[in-house]
Formats: sequence, C-alpha cells, structure tokens
Amino acid sequence: MEKTRDTLVFYVNQQKIVENRPDPTTTLLQYLRRHLKLTGTKNACNQGGCGSCTVMLSWWDKAEQQIKHSNVNACLVLVCHLHGYAVTTVEGVGSTRKGLSGIQTSLMESFGLQCGFCTPGMVMTMHSLLQQTAEPSQESLEMALEGNICRCTGYRPIVDAFQNFCKKGCEKRGQCDKGDIEDLCQLTINGSGKHENIDDDKLEGKIRFPKELKDQGTEKLVFRSGDWSWLRPVTIQEVLSLMDKEPNSHIVMGGTNLVGKLKSNTITKGTLISCKNVQEMTIFKHNEDGIEMGAALTLTNVAERLKACNLSLNGGGIRGHVVTAMLESLRWLACQQIRNQATLGGHVMISDPRSDLCVVLVAAGARAVVISKSGHREVELNNQFFTSNGKTSLAPTEVLVSVKVPFNPVNTHVAYYKQASRKGFSYALLNGCFSASLDGRGSFRNLDLCFGTVFETTRKLTKCPSIANGNYPDDSTLGLVCDELKRELQAESNGTVSSYKQNLACGFVIKFWREIQNKLNHNKRADANGLTWKPCEGQQVFQAPSPGQPAHDAVGRSIPLVSAPALVTGQAMFLDDMPRFENELYVQPVFSTRAHARILSIDKSVAMASPGVVDFLDASTVPGENKWGLFAQDEPLFAENEVFCVGQVVCAIVATSEHYAKTAADLVKIMYLDLPNITTMEEAIAADSYFDYTSHPIDCGDPDKQFPLCDFVKEGQVRSGFQEHFYLEPSGAVVVPKNELGEIEIFTTSQAPTFCQTSASQILGIPRNRIVVRQKRLGGGFGGREYRTPLMFGAAAVAAQRLGKPVRMIMDRKTDFQTTGKRHPFLSKYKAGFRYDGTLEAVSIHFYINAGYTLDVSAAIMDNACFNVDAAYKTPVFSVYGHVCKTNTPSNTSMRAFGAAEAVFVMEAIMCTVADTVGLDQEYVRQLNMYKEGSINHYKRKLENCMLQRCWRDCITQSKFEERSKAVSLYNSQNKFKKKGIAVMPLKFGVGYPVRHLNQGAALVNIYLDGSITIAHGGVEMGQGLHTKMIQVASRALEVPIENIHISETGTNTCPNTTSTAASLSSDINGAAVLDACNKINNRLRPYKQKIPTGQWTDWVNAAYMDRVSLSATGIGRPGNQHWDFEKGVGNPVHYYTFGAACTEVEIDCLTGEHQVLDTEIVIDIGNSLNPSLDVGQIEGGFVQGYGWVTMEELKFSSKGETLACGPVDYKLPGIRNIPRRMKVSILKDCPNKGTVYSSKGVGEPPLLLAISVYIAMRKAIQACRADAGLTDAFDLDIPLTAENIRMACPIEIPTGKFAS
Ligand SMILES: Cc1cc2nc3c(=O)[nH]c(=O)nc-3n(C[C@H](O)[C@H](O)[C@H](O)COP(=O)(O)OP(=O)(O)OC[C@H]3O[C@@H](n4cnc5c(N)ncnc54)[C@H](O)[C@@H]3O)c2cc1C
Ligand code: FES
Ligand code: FES
Repeated sequence: MEKTRDTLVFYVNQQKIVENRPDPTTTLLQYLRRHLKLTGTKNACNQGGCGSCTVMLSWWDKAEQQIKHSNVNACLVLVCHLHGYAVTTVEGVGSTRKGLSGIQTSLMESFGLQCGFCTPGMVMTMHSLLQQTAEPSQESLEMALEGNICRCTGYRPIVDAFQNFCKKGCEKRGQCDKGDIEDLCQLTINGSGKHENIDDDKLEGKIRFPKELKDQGTEKLVFRSGDWSWLRPVTIQEVLSLMDKEPNSHIVMGGTNLVGKLKSNTITKGTLISCKNVQEMTIFKHNEDGIEMGAALTLTNVAERLKACNLSLNGGGIRGHVVTAMLESLRWLACQQIRNQATLGGHVMISDPRSDLCVVLVAAGARAVVISKSGHREVELNNQFFTSNGKTSLAPTEVLVSVKVPFNPVNTHVAYYKQASRKGFSYALLNGCFSASLDGRGSFRNLDLCFGTVFETTRKLTKCPSIANGNYPDDSTLGLVCDELKRELQAESNGTVSSYKQNLACGFVIKFWREIQNKLNHNKRADANGLTWKPCEGQQVFQAPSPGQPAHDAVGRSIPLVSAPALVTGQAMFLDDMPRFENELYVQPVFSTRAHARILSIDKSVAMASPGVVDFLDASTVPGENKWGLFAQDEPLFAENEVFCVGQVVCAIVATSEHYAKTAADLVKIMYLDLPNITTMEEAIAADSYFDYTSHPIDCGDPDKQFPLCDFVKEGQVRSGFQEHFYLEPSGAVVVPKNELGEIEIFTTSQAPTFCQTSASQILGIPRNRIVVRQKRLGGGFGGREYRTPLMFGAAAVAAQRLGKPVRMIMDRKTDFQTTGKRHPFLSKYKAGFRYDGTLEAVSIHFYINAGYTLDVSAAIMDNACFNVDAAYKTPVFSVYGHVCKTNTPSNTSMRAFGAAEAVFVMEAIMCTVADTVGLDQEYVRQLNMYKEGSINHYKRKLENCMLQRCWRDCITQSKFEERSKAVSLYNSQNKFKKKGIAVMPLKFGVGYPVRHLNQGAALVNIYLDGSITIAHGGVEMGQGLHTKMIQVASRALEVPIENIHISETGTNTCPNTTSTAASLSSDINGAAVLDACNKINNRLRPYKQKIPTGQWTDWVNAAYMDRVSLSATGIGRPGNQHWDFEKGVGNPVHYYTFGAACTEVEIDCLTGEHQVLDTEIVIDIGNSLNPSLDVGQIEGGFVQGYGWVTMEELKFSSKGETLACGPVDYKLPGIRNIPRRMKVSILKDCPNKGTVYSSKGVGEPPLLLAISVYIAMRKAIQACRADAGLTDAFDLDIPLTAENIRMACPIEIPTGKFAS
C-alpha cells in the first residue's frame, strides 16, 4: 500500500529542500526569492505573462522510465506541486564563481541583454530547451521564446546567441556578406565560435537527478498549514472521498488559473486536492472512433500525444483533421511555459470563452467523462456544458476525468482559426473552428461553425449550417453563409458584437471556403492563406577600430556590458533583490478608485486592527510639503479632499510585511462624492480643459498667407496613442533612515536621482545634504522613471522618517499600469499646402496632447514636438501650436523620443497625403523635400555635416528598394486578400536640451594606489551600457585597460545636481565629464610620467601620492552651446542631429488585420560609435519599441477613467515572433561628430522614430487593398495599427448572398 507523506521534499539546484508544513498558497517564485534568497529568478509581472520567472522542472517519468524537463513560470506554480521534482534556477546553470554556462557566455558575447531583467528567464528557457532537444530548430527556438518578453533588445541578439545551439546555426553564420562596406568595416557576428562549453548545456548528465525523487512522484500527500490543506490522492476514488470529507475543497491541476484566485484572495481558505497524479486522469488512448485524453495531462503532453496519434493516423488521415485542428489550437494557446504546467482538465473547467482548445472540442462534439459519488456520466462539451464565462454545468461534487474526442467522419474538412492582438502568446480576439462534411457530389452534408471570444461561452452557430447544407461550397453559398453569419452573431450577442469581429468571422469563413475549394480542386488560390513565417535573422555592419589603436584603448570596440556576467547568472542585484533589513516595514498605498470625486470620509479603523499594521499615512502625516512636480508643484503625494484620477494615492498603510500591508490596505474604506470627469482629449477640448501652455512662437512665416498660393491644400487629422513603458523591473523603493542628524538613504528605481533628492527634501522637510539617493542599476526606464518617481518612493520615505525604520515599497505590475502614466496620446490637426510636383510650401499643425491630471513634463514634450515636427523635410512656411489637455487620468510622462516621435509621425502622415494627392511615389516626394547640407530648418538652424542624403541613398541601394518595390506591386496584383507594402523614411533627430543648464554632466574619478580606478558619474545604468561606455572613455583618456576601472553605482553623494538619464544625452554629458576629470588627473600625473619614463601606471600613481598630489578629480561635461529663448522663440534648441533612414517591408492579411514585418534595413549616422555593438542594441531595441507603439500597443480607458489593461496578458508588447524577419543595421562610417566625447552621437531615442517606416509600409499595403476597391484618394490613418485597425482600414467586401440565385 502506498504510504502518505506529510513533508514536502524537492530539490533546488541540487540542494534538498524539506518543508514540514508547506503553505499551499505559496508560489515557487515567492519561495525561491523569499525563503531561499535565490533572487536570480525575477518577478516582473507575477501574472504569468512575461517569462522573467522561468525555471526548469525535472522529474522522473515512471511510464517512460526517463527524466523529463520542462520550463515553467515560477509565479504560476504552487510550491506544494513540487514534491518529487528537481528545480533548476538560473543560479544552478552557471555563476561567475563556478563558471558561466555556454548559454550564458553566448548571450553575453552576442550582446543579447541590456537591462538584464529578462535575462535569467531567457537563459532558463534555452537551458530547458537544450535538455529536451540536443539541436533544436530555429522554429522551436522561437516557439520556446514566445513566452519570454524583453523590452530592451528587440530579441535579435538573443536569437543570435541561442542560434549557436541550433541546427545549422553555424552554417548560417558562414553566409554573412563580409566586406559589405569596404575593408575597414566588418560584419559582426557576435560571439561566433567561442562556446567551448556549449555541450555542457546539452548534457542531460549535467542535471544530476536525485535518485530519491524517483519514488516520490506517486506518493499520497497531506500537507496542512493554517487554514489550508494540500492533498494529493492517487486514485479517483480517493479524490471523491476527500471531496466528501474535506469542507471547502477545490481541485487543483496545473494551478495556473487557481493561483490567480489565491493571489487575489478570491479563495481564502480550504483544501486543495491535487489530481495531477491520479491514474485515471492521466490516460491517453485512441481507437477507430476517437481519442480519450485524461484531464490531468498537461497541454504539452496532450500536444505530444496528439502528434504521435496523428503520425499513426498517417499524417492526420482522412478522419484525423480534428486532431490537426486541435494541434493548431494548442500551438497558439498561451506559451510553452504555460502549456507545460496547465492541464486539459483545468483548461476545460475554467470555461473561458477565449479558450483556444475548447473551440475545437465543441466543434468536434467532444464529450466530458465526469465522475461523482453517484457514478460516471458523459456529457457533450457545448453551450449547455459551458454555462457562462467561468462556469460549467458540473456540480461541485463532480470531477472531470477525461475528454473524448470523436474522429471526424470521412470527407470532412476541419480547420482552426485565431486572430489575436499579437501573433504568439496572446488570447484570441476571435477564434473559430469549422467543420464541413461533403457528400459524394461535393455539396455540404453538414457545416459546423463554432466561435470563441464572441459570446459568453464558446458555442456553435445554429442557423448558418442549415443555409449551407445541400449546397456546393461555391461563392454564392459563401455569400449566403456570410449574410447569415453576421445576422446570427449580431442576434446571439444581443447586438454587442463589433463590426470588426463580424468582418473577422466572415474572414475566417472565406479562408475556410478557399481551403475547401482548393481541396476540391475547383480553384488553387493561395491568397487567403495565413501569412508565411520564416526564421528571423539579422546583420550588423559597422566600422572596426583602426588596426593601430592601442590594446588598452577600448573606445570604438564592441565590448559587452561590464555587468553582463552578473546579469546572465542572476547575480546582479536589482532593487527588490536587496536583502531585507531585520526591522524592515512595508508600505502599501491606497489608490483612488474614482476619476474625479470629493473625498467624504476615510475609515481606517478595520485596517488598523488588522494583523501586522503599524501606521497609517495621509496628507496630514507628511512632514514637509505634500506637493511635488518638476515644472509645477501640482501633484499631491496624498490626496487632499479631492481625487483627480483613478490610481491617485489617497493614503497608505504601513505594516510588518507586504502581505499584511496589502491586506489592510484593502480594508480602508473611502467614501466619495463623484464629480464630473474628463477622460478623453475630445472631452477636454469640448470642456476647454487645458494646462496653461503657451505655444512658444517659432517664427517661420504665416501659412495662412501661403495656402492661397499653393496648388493643393489638404487638411486632416491623425492620432497616436498611449504607450506603456513596460520596464521589466517593478518600480519601488527601499528607504533607510539613519536615525542620525536626519540622514536618510533612498534606494529607488529612478532615472533622475537628483529629482528624487529634491522631491524627498521637499516632502520630508529636510535639506538635500541629508538625503542620499543611490542606484546600482535599473531594469529598464524608457523615460517612465524620471519624473514619476516620487510615486515610487514618497510614501516609503514618509513612513521611514516617521517610524525610524527601513521601509520597502514595490509596485506590482497592475498598480504600475494604473498609476504611473504613459506616453502621451496625440491628436494632431494639420493643414498642408504644396505644389503639383509635390514640393511642400506651407504647413500648419495643432497638436493636442493628453497630459493627464498634472503637468509633469507635458510642456517639455510639447516643446520637443514643436522642435522636431519638421522631421527630415524642408517646409518654407511653418506654424505649429500646442494644446496641453488636462484630463482625469494619471499624469502622462516622458517616454523614449518624447514629443519627437509623435510629431515626426504627423509629418510623415502629411508626406503620405502629399504623395497620394499629386499621384507621385512617396519616396520621390520624400526625397524632393528632404533637407540637404546647408538647409535651414523651421527654427532657422543651418544643417551642417548633414548625413541625411547619404543615409537615404545607402538605404535605398542596400535594401534594393527599386527592385523590391516592383516585386511588391506584382505580388499585390496577384493577391486579393494579402497585400505587401515597402517604404523608406528618412530620419533627423535633434539631440540636446533647449535649456542650457541641463546640458551638463558630472563625474568623479578616484585612483587607488594599486592602480585601480573608480568612476562615479551622474548617469544611471539601465541597460543602455552607459557604465561600460564611461569605462571605455576613461580607458582611452587615462591609457589604462578597462579591467582597471570600475563603476559601482550612481549616488547623489558622489555627483550632485545631475541631469536625469534621458534624451539620448547621457553619454555626451557624462562622457565629457569623465573626460574632464581624467584630463585633470593626467595633468597631475604628467610630471611623474616624465620623471619615470620607463615606469608603469602604478609607479606614476604612487609617485604622485608620495608628493601629496590628489588622485581624485571631479569633472564637468558641457557639450554644446545651445539655448532657446522661450519668450522670443529664437535660439538654437539642439546640439546636433542624428540622421538615418529605414526601409521596411510588411505583409498584411486584409481579412484578419494580421501583419508581419518582413524586412527592415536601417542606415544610421551616430558619429564615431563608442561601442558599436551596444549602439546596435539601442538601434534594434529602439526600433522594436517604436514598432510596438506603431502597431500592437494599445491602451484604452473606460469612461470611468480606469485603465483597461493591467499587465502583459492584456497589453501586448512585441514578442520574438513579431520582430522583422530580417533586420540589417548599418552604422554610417567616417562621419565623426565634432564637439562630443570622442566624436560619438546619442543613439537611445532616434531609432525609435524609424519604426514609423512600418506605418508607412502598412499604409501602402492598405492602400493597395483600397485601390482594388477603386479608392485612390489620400486618406488619414491613425496609430496604433492594431489588427482591428488594419482590418477596418481594408475595404474588403464581405461576400453577400443578396444576388445569389
Ligand atoms: C498568462 C496566461 C495566459 C494564457 N493564455 C491563454 C491563451 O492564449 N489561450 C487559452 O486558451 N488559454 C490561455 N490561458 C489559460 C490557460 O489555458 C489556463 O490557465 C489553464 O488551461 C488552466 O489549467 P490548469 O491546469 O492550470 O487549471 P487549474 O488552475 O489547476 O484549475 C482551474 C480551475 O478548474 C478546476 N478544475 C481543474 N481540474 C478540474 C477537474 N478535473 N474537475 C473539476 N474541476 C477542475 C479547478 O478547481 C480550478 O477552479 C492563459 C493563462 C495564463 C495564466
Ligand atoms: S513574473 Fe512570472 S511570468 Fe512574469
Ligand atoms: S534586457 Fe530584456 S528586458 Fe531589459
């Protein structure tokens, strides 16, 4: 008889873990980070949506007598699941102490990381893949990485790094077109051929699976802890008797859904009965009628078994189309990590109308085998089974044991369709499974159309089939079915179905029809097939350092991030990885749930009586000023009397733990009186709700006088939307009071330490010299952590000062989404006058932006829009006006390329309109109007060293634009439902602040007597490689190798009064400061170098020391001389320009709105790069972030002012699958930038703008579809171009049966 165990036994990185009273609600992620202090596994979302917490599970498969491995998201796995498992985390893969693994080395050498927050997850996904497949294909590599989100790199270098381990990886490398631009240049293939320990990662032997775990997979378990129990029976009878005995019991399978209920306190106590090892629920069998699949099989298991079954059915066979459809649905269900954990039973029982698999099961007429004390029964999976979203018809006493799926009858075609916001790891916007049986004559015997994501439950339509039955699958039947389909969707959804979903549903049916017709050989048309996929590849071309450059001189060399070894091993410390102080407290803010309301009362009594609560904070507890802000002191730390947006901080609870603080915060009761609110720009315009922003005049003539003289004058409006920064590291702070003369230390996730110090001083009422703000690194920033930071540390600082104890606060992803502000949405109204030949003559633009409820940096964003609005084009007469709308939404803030990207988008949209109107090629019109050397722009700046034309020409030539344009036209003439577009855009981006004093950097260089050097500077390292570049600068300046130089952190105590790390300027200002400090040291050392000419660095350093010469120097960087007079509207707002061009080709599916970027070619002038590979990383990462803004990143607010997204599950960033299938980046050679550190240029923001080429290419593809419909006039098109917006812009006529005979 099997014995029952009451202790949890598992292994982590070969260490045995024994837990006597494991808490059934603890996730593996919490356990690793808090109990085992293994902080390499990161928590970026805690929702299962990002993969940064990926770990590998290994177990003994008794049936197959072998060790199995899979990657899972630790935030979705309950630790009690792990009895008998071996867990490997990034710490178990390699370390700087024991040596890096091949994967880690390759990632580092291929520049496959920037901020490094996603990196441990990436390493673990690859590590798991290699344990399962010795030489994976690139397709399986990309599929594995679909669950891992990276916001920095744009994925290409990650794929490059991991391709080393794939089939044909090296062969591909051999195909590089070396010598592409002369001999000085090199085509870099980072890290190739240097992975001696690759094999280590492939060896299963490396995972020494502990013998004792082999027997533990089948034991019965009983864990009890507090209000919770975890029971693991092994037979179905035991399950039933436990359900009978244990009150308040819940079945738990993978737990991926249940864990959400535990985290949200939807279930607060009870018994969890784990059925994963119940024999009857792990079966998989098939006979000639169909397949039976156990409810406890993971979705990966199901797919593997189905694949094997499909093989045995001879490639699907005539009765196996249903199997193929199931496999297709499973392919696109969530991501590998989730499929590895989630089970068939859990998936069916959550009754989610968006389910990928259930739509096939319902279409196939699958049956659930259910058991209870009263016996077995079988019940069909249909809309009587799925009664509503989240509910099935099963009684609480019933258990789903297995699912039986019948094979389809012969002569039946079954297909699955899904359209999501993003290809790969995304819930469906609509999905459907269709089944058509044909009789001997080829007419419909039966047609089933089953849809998910449109009604409250997945269901078959009932009326459409009767229309089709007896008819041939020809176009006239299609028309009749589409008519009925639209009617039925409308009726069954009570009129709630959107036009997009109706069109999409018809699009699926058109595709289905084409497939059947092709099969019957009536027609061989491929234009309704999905978009074709190919593996992504990349090339990078840049200038190598000259052969004579001394070895110690690191400038211009591609050197990996200095912290890369720590980042790839998970050893690098981020904020929440800091060990807890013994007496540490946690503060949890309470947020407004109203967009605009008067606070009537705040009842804290229940919260204060809750366990662990220490204090309550509100406006009255702020010792200094309860206000902060950069340009206006208009943002309260805690609301006073009134709230102005959902997510505004009202008060806060301080408690002894995060759990206690959050639990108590939920118990604070706030009574409101709602007041009228404004959430959209239209509402703000109608209500005249603006911030006091006066458009700074840029004197460039009066377009109103010019328009009457133009051949054409066109007016229009375009919009661009919100963009969430989505830095992966959660925001927060650890504030440590020193209890000595009022000193306080703030560790926070900020790009602007000085602004934090200033705000803290104001809030706490203490001088700035008592406050030290320190940062080791940030897991991404992108502008989102500049001027919103008081939200991230303010409450913790007040608590720390009041209570004299360290206080921590970490924002979860949902809170961050709801409170911290985004990229500003723009509504831009334009009027453009031009000649017949396409020459621009006059442009007038009114920008409206949604600033949110406080000013933040919205005025500066508007200024930047006005400065950059000319884009790369000469417009002789120009006027631009800004309107900063005040709404009841969280204050929007800076984001990469702020103002510039949005303004350039408008100008490029105008160029599209001009070209369409005059009937000339867009590229011709762009080139015609493009700036040249010596051109004067709209604020009267002469363009010197203008590389624009050169970038443009190189881009056109290298991309073979002319040739490919012809191929695109041919393709479009041959395809009705799929269209391509190819476009080139130029780039001019001004670098430098228009306010002179901000263009300054600070540095401190200290030399120690062993010759080692530390640098401190004003910039924050957040993945852009700033510290590495500063070390490179110092290596050249001091003539020492980089190994001698170290940067530990950024602190306001080492470099005061610093400019925030932003605006592509940090290398310029801080690099100049480092250089200045190094030059001072050089001057001091010069006499000793002369005195001891044969000496070494340490000799000179020691000689200087003995002479009492300071080996410490501060430096200031003051690049440029620009300044703009905002009163008069004159001056020079930028230091220099970065130039570039991009050619992008896209393909769209006009029936669904899906798209794929096929190819992007970038040529960019960034001066003499300090570190070309790091700069390529910024270019690719910036481009992909811009691509997300242009396409899939859509954020909506409800009319009540609530953000309708709370993390990666409902807000989609580009994933691995979405990046250009080919991307080439060429850095222009021989174009040094005078007046900057070693002739380099800023690179952080400009490439983001190049993603507008995706917009132009998509617009062309849409235009081709419009042309088929006879629409040839100019049209305005907004971004983001989501699937819905692309589809709705394509005037595809849905077939109709109106005229059918
Ligand atoms: C981030 C994320 C992304 C996702 N994306 C997708 C997607 O793109 N497409 C898609 O289709 N799905 C998606 N899902 C849903 C996913 O498929 C489900 O979470 C999963 O299938 C649930 O399975 P589980 O085994 O983990 O269920 P559990 O969490 O273990 O159980 C779920 C519920 O079912 C009950 N239950 C489980 N088994 C039984 C049984 N045998 N009898 C009776 N009751 C039972 C449990 O009591 C529980 O209430 C996603 C989920 C997450 C977390
Ligand atoms: S933290 Fe687990 S998936 Fe994001
Ligand atoms: S490196 Fe991937 S998120 Fe920053």
